[in-house]
Amino acid sequence: MEILQTVQEMQSWSRAARQDGRRISFVPTMGFLHQGHLSLLQEGRKRGDLLALSIFVNPTQFGQGEDFEDYPRDLQHDSELAATAGVDVIFAPSAAEMYPKGYASYVQVEGLTETLCGASRPGHFRGVCTVVSKLFNIIQPHVAIFGNKDFQQLAVIRRMTADLNLPVDIVGMPIFRETDGLAMSSRNVYLTAEQRRQALVLSAGLAEARQLVAAGESASAVILADLSQRIIAQPEARIDYLKICHQYSLAEQEQVDGDSVLLMAVYFGSTRLIDNGFLVPSDD
Ligand code: PAJ
Repeated sequence: MEILQTVQEMQSWSRAARQDGRRISFVPTMGFLHQGHLSLLQEGRKRGDLLALSIFVNPTQFGQGEDFEDYPRDLQHDSELAATAGVDVIFAPSAAEMYPKGYASYVQVEGLTETLCGASRPGHFRGVCTVVSKLFNIIQPHVAIFGNKDFQQLAVIRRMTADLNLPVDIVGMPIFRETDGLAMSSRNVYLTAEQRRQALVLSAGLAEARQLVAAGESASAVILADLSQRIIAQPEARIDYLKICHQYSLAEQEQVDGDSVLLMAVYFGSTRLIDNGFLVPSDD
């Protein structure tokens, strides 16, 4: 497994792979890998001949006062996990390599980025879209794998890839959870034991919302009121948003249907967690 740090080395690697007729799978991450990331790598392994992983804590997607400086980093441990997962190349550039002096170009997807996390974190998706399109140009993958954990991010990246005619297939993967239901996240390390216990309300609340729907409730307001009660009963929880939206347009829905996704962002102490899930089980 190679670890490359410059754009030039990474582009040469990809050019050579493509000249050999190899299909490149790509998993973009900010590192501090957990089993959620590993499930994406496993899927990537299946979908290509060569597997590329990027590890880059992207400064342009963090707002002022957010956790860019504190974001957990451990390239040594990540490399060991990546090697075991069958990664062929890690691209781990510095911030200066990605955004050299004079850098001035950004990718902005409209509409989809204006609600949910986009409303709470202005500029976040501009940073995500900029870095992902740069990574696509540097790594030249045939296919890229993303998690449903960041549901809005995946919708935005699908939109950007279609709109800009980027020749990359986008694949979405299910949320990987701890056995007690907590969605895996690099940010879970910030939680105290008590906050972590309280955070189980997110996955439990999602399950409860699904039960309400299964029992015949279809009014979003009723489902969200019930969920909100459960969450605010946790002393360390502070709701950023709770919404029921259409899976593609992300427009809020008053009535639940087969396209409805429950999306939530909740602070536990100063740690902001997100979770989501479909409300009606799909047939497959
Ligand atoms: P990061 O938070 O490291 O996540 C990298 C990828 O792993 C994303 O596609 C995310 O949805 C997925 N992922 C995270 N937790 C998961 C879980 N529990 N189950 C399944 N997949 C999970 O998302 C980013 O980095 C960045 O915004 C990035 C796309 C790399 C751009 O900087």
